[in-house]
Amino acid sequence: MPLHSPTPEATQELGAALARAIGSEGAVVLLTGPLGAGKTCFVKGIAAGLGLPPDRVQSPTFVIAQELPLPAGGTLVHVDCYRVSSEAELESAGLLDWLAPGALVVAEWAERVPDAWPTDHLAIAIARDGGARTISARAHGPASEALLARWQASHPAGSLDPRESSNASQDRGS
Ligand SMILES: Nc1ncnc2c1ncn2[C@@H]1O[C@H](COP(=O)(O)OP(=O)(O)OP(=O)(O)O)[C@@H](O)[C@H]1O
Ligand SMILES: [Mg+2]
Repeated sequence: MPLHSPTPEATQELGAALARAIGSEGAVVLLTGPLGAGKTCFVKGIAAGLGLPPDRVQSPTFVIAQELPLPAGGTLVHVDCYRVSSEAELESAGLLDWLAPGALVVAEWAERVPDAWPTDHLAIAIARDGGARTISARAHGPASEALLARWQASHPAGSLDPRESSNASQDRGS
């Protein structure tokens, strides 16, 4: 880490690899990054990795969460906190149900309600890097540390072009 993702497809593939690393214990994944960074793109990849068509994942303007039943059982809960201003608002939308044991909750703009989430979560930041993206992850707690290790182990060597400190590269802004 951090990872360099040159295209939307590469970002989706990273999401799919993360999804495949998540077991029946579920996970809480908090995505941060500015408007248009690729958070929803990453969630589409997570959905794909769990056997759902990626276009089932959307960013409905007035819906806080989309609950997507998974083919293998369980539910992917895609939360968008962009318009959420309090933990109470999230709770009335169903937060405590979403966080049931084994849940898979993936939230965009989670930093707007920083105290709403379980301590053990995987924080993923997506930053624009010219026309590409830089994706970094930080585990908070033992379950997310194990998940992060499995995700990292799943990256086929070289295919994700982990970017070290070099900035002189092929990508040119968009
Ligand atoms: N490497 C890349 N990874 C992800 N998205 C990319 C990349 N390069 C270009 N894009 C484009 O950037 C846009 C990302 O949009 P997306 O809706 O995923 O962002 P978002 O972070 O969810 O934004 P918002 O905060 O508005 O919800 C898409 O149009 C996508 O095609
Ligand atoms: Mg989005």
